[in-house]
Amino acid sequence: MAGVESGFPDGFLWGAATSAHQVEGGNTRNDWWRFEQLPGKIAHGDRSGEACRHYERFDQDFALAQADGHNAHRLSFEWSRLEPERGRFAESEVRHYHDVLASLRRRNLVPIVTLHHFTNPLWIADQGGWENPRTMADFEAFARFCGREFGAEVDWWVTVNEPEVLAFRAYSEGLWPPQERDDSAALAAMANLLEAHGRAYRALHEEDRGDADGDGAAVRAGFAKNYVILRGDRWWFPLDPLRAWLEGAVFNGAVLRAAMDGEIRLAIPGARGVRRRPPGLARSLDFLGLNYYTRWRVRHLAREAHVARRGVPVNDLGWEIHPAGMEWCVTHAARHGVPLLITENGFADETDRFRPRALVEHLLHLRRAIASGARVLGYLHWSLMDNFEWADGYRARFGLYRVDFDHPERPRHRTRSAEVYSRICRANAVTGEVLAEAGMAL
Ligand code: FCB
Repeated sequence: MAGVESGFPDGFLWGAATSAHQVEGGNTRNDWWRFEQLPGKIAHGDRSGEACRHYERFDQDFALAQADGHNAHRLSFEWSRLEPERGRFAESEVRHYHDVLASLRRRNLVPIVTLHHFTNPLWIADQGGWENPRTMADFEAFARFCGREFGAEVDWWVTVNEPEVLAFRAYSEGLWPPQERDDSAALAAMANLLEAHGRAYRALHEEDRGDADGDGAAVRAGFAKNYVILRGDRWWFPLDPLRAWLEGAVFNGAVLRAAMDGEIRLAIPGARGVRRRPPGLARSLDFLGLNYYTRWRVRHLAREAHVARRGVPVNDLGWEIHPAGMEWCVTHAARHGVPLLITENGFADETDRFRPRALVEHLLHLRRAIASGARVLGYLHWSLMDNFEWADGYRARFGLYRVDFDHPERPRHRTRSAEVYSRICRANAVTGEVLAEAGMAL
C-alpha cells in the first residue's frame, strides 16, 4: 500500500495536540474541576489536580516537540483562567499565554489555538452553560478579546472543539458536566455551540489583524469536528443500520452542513429539534479541523448502544483501531470543498505496543486520501504526552511521551512512537526506514 511516493505536501503542518485542562494542572475555576470532586464521576476516582504540570513546564515540553522535528503545536487557552468573571481578564494569565506563545515561536512551532476545549468557567456553568443563549454572546466576547490580544502571535484558531461530542456526553448521556440526560437539551446545546462558533469566527476575523507568520493571512479559523464512523451492528436487525444512519446524520452530517450553508437543522426521534439560520454561520470555516479516532457499531435499544466490532484490534479504551477510516472520513469531509486539518488522531496505548504501527497505518491512509485529491494542511497527533482523559482519568494514555503521574515532578519518558513520529515529521514522508522502525514489512 505504501508505494514509494508516500510524501506529504510542502509546508505540511506536523505536530501534537493538547488541551489546557488535560495538561496544565490547577484549573480550579471551571466546571470540570468542580465535577471531578463528586464521587464516582471519573474512573478510578482520578482528578485532574496538577495534571502534567504543563502550566509550569510548557517550555520544556515544547523543547521535546521541537527536538522531534514538529513544526506546529495545538493547545487551548483556558477560558476560566483568562476571564475568571464576566468581562474581567486576569492580567497574570494573559501574560502567561503570551509567554506560552513566545516559547512556541522561539521553538519554531506554529501555534494552533483552541478557544473552547470542553471546559467552561464556573460563571458560565452557573448561568446554565450551553443551554443558555447568553453563553454565545459571552463566548463571542471572549473570542474578540483573544483575537485582539493575541492576534499578532496567532494565525490559526480553532473556535470550538467537538461541539457534537460535548453536547451528547454532557447533555444526553449525562457523563460529563452538567450531567443531563435529555436529547432535546443536547440538540439545544449543540445548536448554541455551532452558532457560537460562527460568532467567534467573525469576531476573530474582525479583531485579529496581525499576520504572525507573514504569509498574508492574519486569521485561519475553523472548528474541530470529531468524525466518527457509525455502522449498524447486527445484519439481521434492520433498526441497527437505521439508527446508525440517523445518528450519523446529526453527529456528522448536520454539524458540517451548519458551518457550510449556515442552517442549523438538528433532529432526533422523540426530541425537540432545532431549525434556525443564525447570521454569520454560513461559510464560517477557513479550514475544517478533523478529529478521527474510531468506528463504532451501533445497536438499537441495546444496553451498550456503541460497541467495537467483535475480534477487531482495539485501543486500551476498547475503541476499534481502524486506519482505513482515516481515509474514508478525510475523503468524505473534503467533498465540502474546505481544506482540512487533522486536529487530533491518536491511540490509548499504555505500553506503546501497537501505537507505532497504528500511527503509520493511519498516516498511509491519510496520504492516500491526499493523493486522490483531498486538501489536507497538516496532522496533529493526540497527544504530546499522557494526560487527564476526562471521565476516563489518567489510565488512558495517549502520549507520545509517557508521564509518571506518581512522581511530584511528572517526568516525561520518550516512547518509540515519538521516535517513529519524529522521523515522519523530519522527512515529511512515511519512508521505508519509518516502516521498518514501526515493524512493518517494506
Ligand atoms: C477527543 C478530545 C480530546 C481527547 C481525545 C482522546 O474527543 O477532543 O480532548 O480527550 O478525544
